[in-house]
Amino acid sequence: MRWIHAAGRGLLVLVVILTGYVASGARADEGPASGRGPMTLATAGDLTGYLGSVLDGWNRTHPDEKVTLVELPDSADETHAQMTTDLRAGGRSRFDILNIDVSWTSEFAAHGWIRPLDRGRFPLGSFLPPVVDTATYDRQLYAVPYVTNAGLLLYRKDILAKEGVDPPRTWAELERAAKTIAPKYGLDGYAGQFLPYEGLTVNAAEAVYSAGGSILGDEGERVTVNSTAAREGIDFLARGVREGWIPKQALTFKEEESKQAFQDGRLLFLRNWPYAYVGASAKGSPVSGRIGAVPLPGPDGPGRSVLGGSNLAVSAHARHPDSAARLIAYLTSERVQRQVLTRGALPPVRADLYEDPALVREFPYLPTLRESLRTAAPRPKSPRYDQVSLVVQAVVHDAMTGHETPAAAVRRLARELAAVSSR
Ligand code: GLC
Repeated sequence: MRWIHAAGRGLLVLVVILTGYVASGARADEGPASGRGPMTLATAGDLTGYLGSVLDGWNRTHPDEKVTLVELPDSADETHAQMTTDLRAGGRSRFDILNIDVSWTSEFAAHGWIRPLDRGRFPLGSFLPPVVDTATYDRQLYAVPYVTNAGLLLYRKDILAKEGVDPPRTWAELERAAKTIAPKYGLDGYAGQFLPYEGLTVNAAEAVYSAGGSILGDEGERVTVNSTAAREGIDFLARGVREGWIPKQALTFKEEESKQAFQDGRLLFLRNWPYAYVGASAKGSPVSGRIGAVPLPGPDGPGRSVLGGSNLAVSAHARHPDSAARLIAYLTSERVQRQVLTRGALPPVRADLYEDPALVREFPYLPTLRESLRTAAPRPKSPRYDQVSLVVQAVVHDAMTGHETPAAAVRRLARELAAVSSR
Protein backbone atom coordinates (compact mmCIF):
# COMPACT_ATOMS: atom_id res chain seq x y z
CA MET A 1 0.00 0.00 0.00
CA ARG A 2 2.96 2.19 0.50
CA TRP A 3 3.35 2.85 -3.22
CA ILE A 4 -0.21 4.21 -3.30
CA HIS A 5 0.73 6.74 -0.68
CA ALA A 6 3.88 7.55 -2.56
CA ALA A 7 1.93 7.98 -5.80
CA GLY A 8 -0.63 10.10 -3.99
CA ARG A 9 2.13 12.28 -2.63
CA GLY A 10 3.64 12.56 -6.10
CA LEU A 11 0.28 13.63 -7.52
CA LEU A 12 -0.14 16.15 -4.76
CA VAL A 13 3.28 17.59 -5.47
CA LEU A 14 2.42 17.78 -9.17
CA VAL A 15 -0.88 19.55 -8.44
CA VAL A 16 0.89 21.99 -6.14
CA ILE A 17 3.53 22.67 -8.78
CA LEU A 18 0.95 23.19 -11.50
CA THR A 19 -1.34 25.44 -9.50
CA GLY A 20 1.70 27.28 -8.17
CA TYR A 21 2.80 27.80 -11.74
CA VAL A 22 -0.57 29.25 -12.77
CA ALA A 23 -0.80 31.35 -9.63
CA SER A 24 2.65 32.84 -9.94
CA GLY A 25 3.02 33.01 -13.68
CA ALA A 26 -0.30 34.19 -15.03
CA ARG A 27 -3.79 35.20 -14.15
CA ALA A 28 -6.20 32.29 -13.81
CA ASP A 29 -8.13 33.39 -16.91
CA GLU A 30 -5.15 33.83 -19.18
CA GLY A 31 -3.21 30.61 -19.33
CA PRO A 32 0.45 30.28 -18.44
CA ALA A 33 2.75 33.28 -18.55
CA SER A 34 4.91 33.85 -21.54
CA GLY A 35 7.75 36.23 -20.83
CA ARG A 36 6.48 39.00 -23.08
CA GLY A 37 3.14 40.67 -23.69
CA PRO A 38 0.91 43.53 -22.51
CA MET A 39 0.93 44.74 -18.93
CA THR A 40 -0.47 47.27 -16.46
CA LEU A 41 1.47 49.72 -14.30
CA ALA A 42 -0.19 50.96 -11.11
CA THR A 43 0.96 54.21 -9.53
CA ALA A 44 -0.09 56.71 -6.89
CA GLY A 45 -1.67 59.90 -8.27
CA ASP A 46 0.51 61.38 -11.04
CA LEU A 47 0.46 64.90 -9.57
CA THR A 48 2.23 66.48 -12.54
CA GLY A 49 0.36 64.45 -15.17
CA TYR A 50 3.48 63.38 -17.08
CA LEU A 51 3.62 59.60 -16.86
CA GLY A 52 1.12 58.89 -19.66
CA SER A 53 3.36 60.68 -22.18
CA VAL A 54 6.44 58.77 -20.98
CA LEU A 55 4.64 55.43 -21.34
CA ASP A 56 3.41 56.46 -24.81
CA GLY A 57 7.08 56.61 -25.79
CA TRP A 58 7.40 52.90 -24.89
CA ASN A 59 4.05 51.88 -26.40
CA ARG A 60 4.88 53.41 -29.78
CA THR A 61 7.94 51.20 -30.15
CA HIS A 62 6.65 48.07 -28.36
CA PRO A 63 3.24 47.28 -29.89
CA ASP A 64 3.22 43.73 -28.50
CA GLU A 65 4.20 44.74 -24.98
CA LYS A 66 1.94 47.73 -24.42
CA VAL A 67 1.61 49.08 -20.91
CA THR A 68 -1.64 50.52 -19.54
CA LEU A 69 -1.41 53.08 -16.74
CA VAL A 70 -3.65 52.60 -13.70
CA GLU A 71 -3.65 55.77 -11.61
CA LEU A 72 -4.58 55.36 -7.94
CA PRO A 73 -5.33 58.17 -5.42
CA ASP A 74 -2.96 61.03 -4.46
CA SER A 75 -2.61 59.95 -0.86
CA ALA A 76 0.18 57.42 -0.29
CA ASP A 77 -1.98 55.59 2.28
CA GLU A 78 -4.94 55.14 -0.06
CA THR A 79 -2.66 53.89 -2.81
CA HIS A 80 -1.05 51.48 -0.35
CA ALA A 81 -4.50 50.15 0.63
CA GLN A 82 -5.55 49.64 -3.00
CA MET A 83 -2.31 47.98 -4.02
CA THR A 84 -2.22 45.58 -1.09
CA THR A 85 -5.89 44.63 -1.60
CA ASP A 86 -5.12 43.91 -5.23
CA LEU A 87 -1.99 41.90 -4.46
CA ARG A 88 -3.85 39.81 -1.90
CA ALA A 89 -6.18 38.71 -4.71
CA GLY A 90 -3.27 36.56 -5.95
CA GLY A 91 -3.89 35.24 -9.46
CA ARG A 92 -6.80 37.65 -9.93
CA SER A 93 -4.67 40.72 -9.25
CA ARG A 94 -4.87 43.45 -11.90
CA PHE A 95 -1.46 45.08 -11.48
CA ASP A 96 1.68 43.75 -13.15
CA ILE A 97 4.15 46.52 -12.30
CA LEU A 98 3.80 48.63 -9.18
CA ASN A 99 5.31 52.04 -8.65
CA ILE A 100 5.68 51.66 -4.89
CA ASP A 101 6.72 54.18 -2.26
CA VAL A 102 10.34 53.63 -1.19
CA SER A 103 9.10 52.79 2.30
CA TRP A 104 7.01 49.79 1.17
CA THR A 105 9.68 47.56 -0.43
CA SER A 106 10.31 45.49 2.72
CA GLU A 107 6.63 44.91 3.43
CA PHE A 108 5.80 43.91 -0.15
CA ALA A 109 8.85 41.64 -0.38
CA ALA A 110 8.25 40.00 3.02
CA HIS A 111 4.68 39.10 1.97
CA GLY A 112 5.90 37.59 -1.31
CA TRP A 113 3.80 40.08 -3.31
CA ILE A 114 6.70 41.19 -5.50
CA ARG A 115 9.42 39.10 -7.11
CA PRO A 116 13.19 39.33 -6.68
CA LEU A 117 14.89 40.93 -9.67
CA ASP A 118 18.14 40.30 -11.46
CA ARG A 119 20.54 43.15 -10.60
CA GLY A 120 22.40 42.70 -13.87
CA ARG A 121 19.42 43.95 -15.91
CA PHE A 122 19.34 47.45 -14.42
CA PRO A 123 21.80 50.38 -14.33
CA LEU A 124 22.12 50.36 -10.54
CA GLY A 125 25.70 51.67 -10.66
CA SER A 126 24.57 55.01 -12.07
CA PHE A 127 22.00 55.68 -9.34
CA LEU A 128 22.46 57.82 -6.24
CA PRO A 129 23.72 55.29 -3.66
CA PRO A 130 21.03 55.48 -0.93
CA VAL A 131 18.17 54.85 -3.35
CA VAL A 132 19.39 51.36 -4.23
CA ASP A 133 19.23 50.45 -0.56
CA THR A 134 15.49 51.34 -0.45
CA ALA A 135 14.89 48.74 -3.18
CA THR A 136 16.59 45.83 -1.42
CA TYR A 137 15.26 43.51 1.25
CA ASP A 138 17.11 40.64 2.84
CA ARG A 139 20.08 41.48 0.57
CA GLN A 140 17.99 40.83 -2.57
CA LEU A 141 16.89 43.40 -5.12
CA TYR A 142 13.07 43.52 -5.07
CA ALA A 143 12.46 46.72 -7.02
CA VAL A 144 14.32 49.29 -9.09
CA PRO A 145 14.66 52.90 -7.96
CA TYR A 146 12.70 55.19 -10.26
CA VAL A 147 12.19 58.56 -8.55
CA THR A 148 13.89 59.94 -5.46
CA ASN A 149 12.79 62.87 -3.29
CA ALA A 150 13.85 65.16 -0.49
CA GLY A 151 11.89 67.84 1.33
CA LEU A 152 12.87 71.48 0.78
CA LEU A 153 11.88 74.69 2.51
CA LEU A 154 10.24 76.96 -0.06
CA TYR A 155 10.09 80.63 0.89
CA ARG A 156 8.86 83.94 -0.48
CA LYS A 157 12.06 85.52 -1.76
CA ASP A 158 10.35 88.86 -2.49
CA ILE A 159 9.13 89.30 1.07
CA LEU A 160 12.33 88.21 2.83
CA ALA A 161 14.31 90.55 0.53
CA LYS A 162 12.05 93.48 1.40
CA GLU A 163 12.64 92.76 5.08
CA GLY A 164 16.38 92.31 4.60
CA VAL A 165 16.20 88.82 6.10
CA ASP A 166 18.10 85.75 4.84
CA PRO A 167 16.20 82.49 4.30
CA PRO A 168 16.11 80.59 7.61
CA ARG A 169 18.74 78.00 8.49
CA THR A 170 17.43 77.27 11.97
CA TRP A 171 14.03 76.66 13.53
CA ALA A 172 14.40 79.85 15.61
CA GLU A 173 14.92 81.93 12.44
CA LEU A 174 11.99 80.23 10.74
CA GLU A 175 9.72 80.79 13.74
CA ARG A 176 10.74 84.42 14.12
CA ALA A 177 9.98 85.24 10.49
CA ALA A 178 6.79 83.17 10.47
CA LYS A 179 5.56 84.97 13.60
CA THR A 180 6.59 88.52 12.84
CA ILE A 181 6.97 88.96 9.07
CA ALA A 182 4.15 86.77 7.68
CA PRO A 183 1.32 88.68 9.44
CA LYS A 184 2.61 92.04 8.14
CA TYR A 185 1.88 90.79 4.63
CA GLY A 186 -1.40 89.09 5.54
CA LEU A 187 0.17 85.63 5.19
CA ASP A 188 0.26 82.51 7.29
CA GLY A 189 3.69 81.49 8.52
CA TYR A 190 4.59 77.88 7.85
CA ALA A 191 2.97 74.67 6.62
CA GLY A 192 3.89 71.15 5.64
CA GLN A 193 1.76 68.04 5.16
CA PHE A 194 -0.01 67.62 8.47
CA LEU A 195 -3.13 65.56 7.70
CA PRO A 196 -2.78 62.15 9.37
CA TYR A 197 -1.33 60.06 6.48
CA GLU A 198 2.17 59.15 5.27
CA GLY A 199 2.96 62.81 4.65
CA LEU A 200 2.62 63.56 8.37
CA THR A 201 4.88 60.62 9.21
CA VAL A 202 7.44 62.16 6.86
CA ASN A 203 7.14 65.66 8.38
CA ALA A 204 7.33 64.28 11.92
CA ALA A 205 10.33 62.09 11.11
CA GLU A 206 12.10 65.08 9.58
CA ALA A 207 11.53 67.12 12.72
CA VAL A 208 12.81 64.27 14.91
CA TYR A 209 15.83 63.53 12.66
CA SER A 210 16.66 67.24 12.40
CA ALA A 211 16.84 67.45 16.19
CA GLY A 212 19.25 64.48 16.15
CA GLY A 213 16.72 61.83 17.19
CA SER A 214 15.45 58.65 15.58
CA ILE A 215 12.28 56.55 15.66
CA LEU A 216 13.37 52.95 15.17
CA GLY A 217 16.80 51.33 15.02
CA ASP A 218 18.18 48.05 13.62
CA GLU A 219 15.90 47.89 10.56
CA GLY A 220 12.80 48.40 12.67
CA GLU A 221 13.69 45.91 15.41
CA ARG A 222 14.42 48.43 18.16
CA VAL A 223 12.35 51.42 19.30
CA THR A 224 14.59 54.46 19.78
CA VAL A 225 12.04 57.29 19.87
CA ASN A 226 12.05 57.88 23.61
CA SER A 227 14.55 60.76 23.59
CA THR A 228 14.86 64.47 24.29
CA ALA A 229 15.60 65.03 20.60
CA ALA A 230 12.36 63.36 19.49
CA ARG A 231 10.42 65.46 22.00
CA GLU A 232 12.11 68.59 20.71
CA GLY A 233 11.15 67.67 17.13
CA ILE A 234 7.51 67.06 17.95
CA ASP A 235 7.44 70.17 20.11
CA PHE A 236 8.53 72.27 17.10
CA LEU A 237 5.41 71.17 15.18
CA ALA A 238 3.02 71.31 18.14
CA ARG A 239 4.28 74.77 19.18
CA GLY A 240 3.69 76.10 15.68
CA VAL A 241 -0.01 75.24 15.81
CA ARG A 242 -0.39 76.39 19.42
CA GLU A 243 1.29 79.73 18.71
CA GLY A 244 -0.51 80.21 15.41
CA TRP A 245 2.49 80.43 13.06
CA ILE A 246 1.34 77.12 11.62
CA PRO A 247 -2.28 77.74 10.54
CA LYS A 248 -4.89 75.26 11.85
CA GLN A 249 -5.92 74.59 8.29
CA ALA A 250 -2.51 72.98 7.66
CA LEU A 251 -3.71 70.06 9.81
CA THR A 252 -5.77 69.05 6.74
CA PHE A 253 -3.00 69.51 4.14
CA LYS A 254 -1.49 66.81 1.94
CA GLU A 255 1.12 67.72 -0.73
CA GLU A 256 -1.37 69.29 -3.13
CA GLU A 257 -3.35 71.41 -0.65
CA SER A 258 -0.17 72.79 0.89
CA LYS A 259 1.31 73.54 -2.53
CA GLN A 260 -1.88 75.36 -3.51
CA ALA A 261 -1.79 77.52 -0.35
CA PHE A 262 1.79 78.58 -1.12
CA GLN A 263 1.10 79.08 -4.80
CA ASP A 264 -1.98 81.22 -4.05
CA GLY A 265 0.26 83.50 -1.99
CA ARG A 266 -1.16 82.51 1.40
CA LEU A 267 2.05 81.23 3.03
CA LEU A 268 5.51 82.63 3.75
CA PHE A 269 7.17 79.19 4.17
CA LEU A 270 6.31 75.72 2.94
CA ARG A 271 7.93 72.32 3.43
CA ASN A 272 7.25 70.27 0.32
CA TRP A 273 8.89 68.08 -2.33
CA PRO A 274 10.63 69.84 -5.23
CA TYR A 275 7.65 69.37 -7.59
CA ALA A 276 5.93 72.13 -5.60
CA TYR A 277 8.79 74.53 -6.41
CA VAL A 278 8.30 73.84 -10.11
CA GLY A 279 4.51 74.32 -9.90
CA ALA A 280 4.78 77.53 -7.90
CA SER A 281 7.38 79.03 -10.23
CA ALA A 282 5.55 78.10 -13.45
CA LYS A 283 4.17 80.84 -15.70
CA GLY A 284 0.72 81.82 -14.49
CA SER A 285 1.43 81.05 -10.82
CA PRO A 286 0.74 84.16 -8.69
CA VAL A 287 4.13 83.71 -6.95
CA SER A 288 6.15 82.93 -10.07
CA GLY A 289 9.64 84.51 -9.89
CA ARG A 290 9.17 85.33 -6.21
CA ILE A 291 10.22 82.09 -4.50
CA GLY A 292 13.37 80.33 -3.39
CA ALA A 293 14.31 76.94 -1.88
CA VAL A 294 16.77 76.06 0.91
CA PRO A 295 17.44 72.87 2.87
CA LEU A 296 15.01 72.18 5.71
CA PRO A 297 16.13 74.01 8.85
CA GLY A 298 16.90 72.28 12.15
CA PRO A 299 17.46 73.41 15.75
CA ASP A 300 20.96 74.85 15.20
CA GLY A 301 21.54 74.71 11.46
CA PRO A 302 20.29 72.78 8.44
CA GLY A 303 18.10 69.81 9.39
CA ARG A 304 17.56 66.47 7.68
CA SER A 305 15.01 65.42 5.13
CA VAL A 306 13.41 62.03 4.89
CA LEU A 307 14.34 60.16 1.73
CA GLY A 308 11.23 59.99 -0.46
CA GLY A 309 10.53 58.62 -3.87
CA SER A 310 9.32 55.43 -5.48
CA ASN A 311 10.63 52.11 -6.80
CA LEU A 312 9.29 49.97 -9.62
CA ALA A 313 8.43 46.42 -8.57
CA VAL A 314 7.10 43.43 -10.48
CA SER A 315 4.09 41.66 -9.00
CA ALA A 316 4.54 38.00 -8.08
CA HIS A 317 1.54 37.43 -10.38
CA ALA A 318 2.74 39.55 -13.30
CA ARG A 319 1.53 38.16 -16.60
CA HIS A 320 4.71 38.91 -18.52
CA PRO A 321 7.68 39.29 -16.19
CA ASP A 322 10.22 39.67 -18.96
CA SER A 323 8.34 42.60 -20.52
CA ALA A 324 7.97 44.08 -17.04
CA ALA A 325 11.75 44.01 -16.52
CA ARG A 326 12.31 45.45 -20.00
CA LEU A 327 9.91 48.32 -19.31
CA ILE A 328 11.62 49.04 -15.98
CA ALA A 329 15.01 49.15 -17.71
CA TYR A 330 13.50 51.66 -20.17
CA LEU A 331 12.03 53.83 -17.37
CA THR A 332 15.41 53.99 -15.65
CA SER A 333 17.35 54.78 -18.83
CA GLU A 334 19.12 58.12 -19.03
CA ARG A 335 16.61 59.45 -21.59
CA VAL A 336 13.50 58.69 -19.55
CA GLN A 337 15.13 59.78 -16.28
CA ARG A 338 15.70 63.16 -17.91
CA GLN A 339 11.96 63.27 -18.79
CA VAL A 340 11.11 62.39 -15.19
CA LEU A 341 12.67 65.74 -14.30
CA THR A 342 11.78 67.87 -17.34
CA ARG A 343 8.19 66.62 -17.78
CA GLY A 344 7.36 65.30 -14.33
CA ALA A 345 9.22 67.82 -12.12
CA LEU A 346 10.33 64.79 -10.07
CA PRO A 347 13.89 64.12 -8.87
CA PRO A 348 15.57 61.46 -11.04
CA VAL A 349 17.58 58.62 -9.50
CA ARG A 350 20.52 58.90 -11.92
CA ALA A 351 23.32 60.81 -10.21
CA ASP A 352 24.88 62.46 -13.29
CA LEU A 353 21.73 64.45 -14.13
CA TYR A 354 22.27 66.59 -11.01
CA GLU A 355 25.49 67.93 -12.53
CA ASP A 356 24.12 68.62 -16.00
CA PRO A 357 24.57 72.40 -16.56
CA ALA A 358 21.52 72.75 -18.83
CA LEU A 359 19.29 71.04 -16.26
CA VAL A 360 20.75 73.09 -13.41
CA ARG A 361 19.92 76.26 -15.37
CA GLU A 362 16.35 75.11 -15.93
CA PHE A 363 15.87 73.74 -12.38
CA PRO A 364 17.87 76.08 -10.12
CA TYR A 365 16.99 74.09 -7.00
CA LEU A 366 18.95 71.01 -8.20
CA PRO A 367 22.18 71.71 -6.23
CA THR A 368 20.15 72.31 -3.03
CA LEU A 369 18.19 69.14 -3.70
CA ARG A 370 21.38 67.15 -4.32
CA GLU A 371 22.72 68.35 -0.98
CA SER A 372 19.46 67.48 0.80
CA LEU A 373 19.47 64.03 -0.81
CA ARG A 374 23.04 63.48 0.36
CA THR A 375 22.02 63.86 4.00
CA ALA A 376 18.46 62.48 3.70
CA ALA A 377 17.54 59.68 6.08
CA PRO A 378 15.51 56.69 4.94
CA ARG A 379 12.40 55.65 6.79
CA PRO A 380 12.79 52.57 8.99
CA LYS A 381 13.00 49.39 6.89
CA SER A 382 10.29 47.31 8.48
CA PRO A 383 8.03 44.60 7.09
CA ARG A 384 5.38 46.28 9.30
CA TYR A 385 6.15 49.79 8.10
CA ASP A 386 2.47 50.44 7.37
CA GLN A 387 1.64 49.96 11.06
CA VAL A 388 4.65 51.97 12.18
CA SER A 389 3.47 54.87 10.04
CA LEU A 390 -0.13 54.66 11.32
CA VAL A 391 1.13 54.95 14.90
CA VAL A 392 3.34 57.96 14.10
CA GLN A 393 0.56 59.78 12.24
CA ALA A 394 -2.01 59.25 14.97
CA VAL A 395 0.21 60.27 17.87
CA VAL A 396 1.83 63.29 16.21
CA HIS A 397 -1.55 64.55 15.06
CA ASP A 398 -2.78 64.38 18.67
CA ALA A 399 0.26 66.38 19.75
CA MET A 400 -0.29 68.99 17.02
CA THR A 401 -3.97 69.43 17.87
CA GLY A 402 -3.01 69.90 21.53
CA HIS A 403 -4.66 66.70 22.78
CA GLU A 404 -1.38 65.47 24.17
CA THR A 405 1.84 67.18 25.27
CA PRO A 406 4.96 66.42 23.20
CA ALA A 407 6.46 64.58 26.20
CA ALA A 408 3.37 62.37 26.55
CA ALA A 409 3.32 61.86 22.77
CA VAL A 410 6.89 60.56 22.78
CA ARG A 411 6.11 58.14 25.62
CA ARG A 412 3.02 56.90 23.76
CA LEU A 413 4.99 56.54 20.54
CA ALA A 414 7.56 54.38 22.34
CA ARG A 415 4.82 52.19 23.81
CA GLU A 416 2.78 51.76 20.64
CA LEU A 417 5.80 51.20 18.40
CA ALA A 418 7.11 48.54 20.79
CA ALA A 419 3.73 46.81 20.51
CA VAL A 420 3.99 46.86 16.69
CA SER A 421 7.50 45.37 16.70
CA SER A 422 6.61 42.59 19.13
CA ARG A 423 3.56 41.43 17.16
C1 GLC B 1 6.06 61.62 -1.81
C2 GLC B 1 7.35 60.85 -1.54
C3 GLC B 1 7.03 59.56 -0.83
C4 GLC B 1 6.27 59.88 0.45
C5 GLC B 1 4.99 60.65 0.14
C6 GLC B 1 4.30 61.08 1.41
O1 GLC B 1 5.29 60.96 -2.74
O2 GLC B 1 8.04 60.61 -2.74
O3 GLC B 1 8.19 58.82 -0.53
O4 GLC B 1 5.97 58.73 1.17
O5 GLC B 1 5.30 61.78 -0.63
O6 GLC B 1 3.14 61.74 1.17
